[in-house]
Amino acid sequence: MKDWSANMRPRFLEISKIITAGKPFKPDNSNTDQYLTMIAFELRNLQSVNQLKAPKPELFTGWFEMTKVQGTLLWKTPLYKRHPFSVPFQKLVKTAYHLAVDEIEDAVRKYGIEHRDAHFGNVMFTMQGDQPVKAHLFDWGIAVRMKWDGRYYIRGEDIIVWGDSEQGAKYTPEEFKVLDDLDGKDGIRGEHETRKTLHNSGGR
Ligand SMILES: Nc1ncnc2c1ncn2[C@@H]1O[C@H](COP(=O)(O)OP(=O)(O)OP(=O)(O)O)[C@@H](O)[C@H]1O
Ligand SMILES: [Mg+2]
Repeated sequence: MKDWSANMRPRFLEISKIITAGKPFKPDNSNTDQYLTMIAFELRNLQSVNQLKAPKPELFTGWFEMTKVQGTLLWKTPLYKRHPFSVPFQKLVKTAYHLAVDEIEDAVRKYGIEHRDAHFGNVMFTMQGDQPVKAHLFDWGIAVRMKWDGRYYIRGEDIIVWGDSEQGAKYTPEEFKVLDDLDGKDGIRGEHETRKTLHNSGGR
């Protein structure tokens, strides 16, 4: 990682400790603080979803290794290569969308982390022939804490410096997923919704 230098370590540990504990941390305006905050988030998130191979965040010295997520990017599928604008490919995209949203929700329930950047460049699919059957999310850099309380999904205290954190915001599973528009119905779309899931490219 090109910008890392050893003298950043004490500040990194300070930031990492707060973020790992799920507490709000607001970096100052320096590039260093923002950079360290991004790393701290990425490591905390990877660790939460069991995709961090090494090192433990507290032993970070400028590099990390993550699990290789298996599967195929949407535009690497044979169907896309053969017929990128075909109806069958559009159907594939729709299935892929549903599968990805399922994974986002599953990760919240299993690990307490909301991905927030699950555009199709960040999702691999297990394919059976021309059909995706399972989505696998990666690139957890801007994910935040979210918990499921049995009734609502509730945002944690993480501060996102590049957007509105909406700490403590609550969503029912229906509000969280909002798939209506894809089916061509008039879904009610408040400002929460797919923006935070599939359509949020993070603004980086
Ligand atoms: N854990 C992983 N497993 C498999 N492939 C990965 C993984 N992480 C990244 N890749 C591959 O590298 C590409 C880019 O990775 P990634 O999404 O992390 O970075 P990026 O999109 O270029 O940067 P960012 O999203 O941080 O702006 C992906 O499209 C994917 O092909
Ligand atoms: Mg990416």
